[in-house]
Amino acid sequence: MDVTELRKRYAEHGQEHVFEGMEELAPAAREEFLRQLEGIDLEELDELIEGYRDRPPAAPKELRPCETIREPRSEQEAAERRKALNRGEELLRAGKVAAFLVAGGQGTRLGLPGPKGTFPVYPITGRSLFEVFAKKLLNLRARYGREIPLVIMTSPVNDEETRAYFEAFHYFGLNPSSVRFVVQRTLPAVDLWGKLVVDMPGHVHVSPDGHGGALYAMRESGVIRELLDGGYAELFYFQVDNPLVKICDPVFIGYHNLRRADVSTKVVEKTDPAEKVGIVGYIDGKPGVIEYSELSEEELNARRKDGRLRYHAGNTAIHVFNLEFLDHLARGGGDLPWHYALKKARTADGEEVEVVKFERFIFDTMRFAGRVTVLEVDRREEFAPLKNAVGPDSPNTVRAALVEMWARWLEAAGVEVPRDEEGRPRGTVEINPLFADSAEELKKKLPPSWRWRDGALL
Ligand code: UD1
Repeated sequence: MDVTELRKRYAEHGQEHVFEGMEELAPAAREEFLRQLEGIDLEELDELIEGYRDRPPAAPKELRPCETIREPRSEQEAAERRKALNRGEELLRAGKVAAFLVAGGQGTRLGLPGPKGTFPVYPITGRSLFEVFAKKLLNLRARYGREIPLVIMTSPVNDEETRAYFEAFHYFGLNPSSVRFVVQRTLPAVDLWGKLVVDMPGHVHVSPDGHGGALYAMRESGVIRELLDGGYAELFYFQVDNPLVKICDPVFIGYHNLRRADVSTKVVEKTDPAEKVGIVGYIDGKPGVIEYSELSEEELNARRKDGRLRYHAGNTAIHVFNLEFLDHLARGGGDLPWHYALKKARTADGEEVEVVKFERFIFDTMRFAGRVTVLEVDRREEFAPLKNAVGPDSPNTVRAALVEMWARWLEAAGVEVPRDEEGRPRGTVEINPLFADSAEELKKKLPPSWRWRDGALL
């Protein structure tokens, strides 16, 4: 590696400062550092910095709520739902559906060392998010007689640990050949003067390129093509933080497929204006997601005549993508826009600095889609994300949501559930997703003599 040449290149891009103090590094650390520097695409970085500098001033966006498919309210809607369920099940049985899990984030807010998917989220056994997802997939395999391939996107921050975790637990019973890891890339963040930040001696500060990086990670790894060649048509996409997710929900996949959508998304009704979810709607005429932080106070609180929030379609980040559509995008059919986030980083001297992080978001694929369908679902059955160590969206709230859901399923199966003054179940139970993953399945399988008992496992 020609250090002089590299140094010259960095100087041409105004980034030569990163070489300061390099002589003090041990030979191996120096090698590693030079490798990192060689891997940074400085032309691309210049474009990103320029894009940030020239970003238009945040102008108010024209927002329109979107239409959603809701629980059927007429016989015609009920018939359509049955059709959707049949189509979804048909696709699952025919091996047309694959699953994609994004797990490349840093999970900073949860404060867990290691991948978020290893968090012991189940209230009694401490089953991790990854284990829960694996068990749900095994349940689907038994039901539809087909293995559903699972692609997991990691990032260089957690890739090794994630793979080791799956190996240590023998993939929780999944066939290792049905699980595929793809690694998203990282990009350097820059300070407010557009300079790279050295965050440790011999290391430039980088962070994952956002979940929109999935599109590029899939392209680079050849996964989209492989799935298409294997006969798969639709990709079910979900986030690592939501243990309630109905993986490969046939109704959702069915609506998406029947309506020939390129992208479909599940939303939950936002009832609390302060809830930190993105809103699905039309943004300047195009379907997409507008982040909570981009809405004005007035927009956040606006209500319709029927009392619902005007912007009520909360983004669960559960999507279905048509694989041909993704392939078209990945092959240059549309570049996802960049988003800029201001974050804090610590320099090698221990100083805290503000940095600009460059990210892409997967939901921006919607603006390129011929058709988008939006399915509104019951949050109590499908959405309780784990984001924070305490407060909203924390282990306590997620476990309470799980237990409440299981208590409802048990009640629907005829079990008496003792509840406190506030209506919360007294005690904790847990249901293995392999045993039952819905109220209907539980009803079929529950032994008639089963009684609620604190600590009971099914
Ligand atoms: C996200 C959505 C928000 C939605 C909410 C639902 C964005 C900008 N916002 O919020 O609209 O209401 O989820 O829970 O996405 N990830 C990667 N690589 C990355 C970054 C993230 O794989 O570079 C993964 C994470 O591992 C996680 C998911 O993407 O599975 C979401 O990331 P997170 O940062 O937690 O999203 P939020 O901002 O909370």
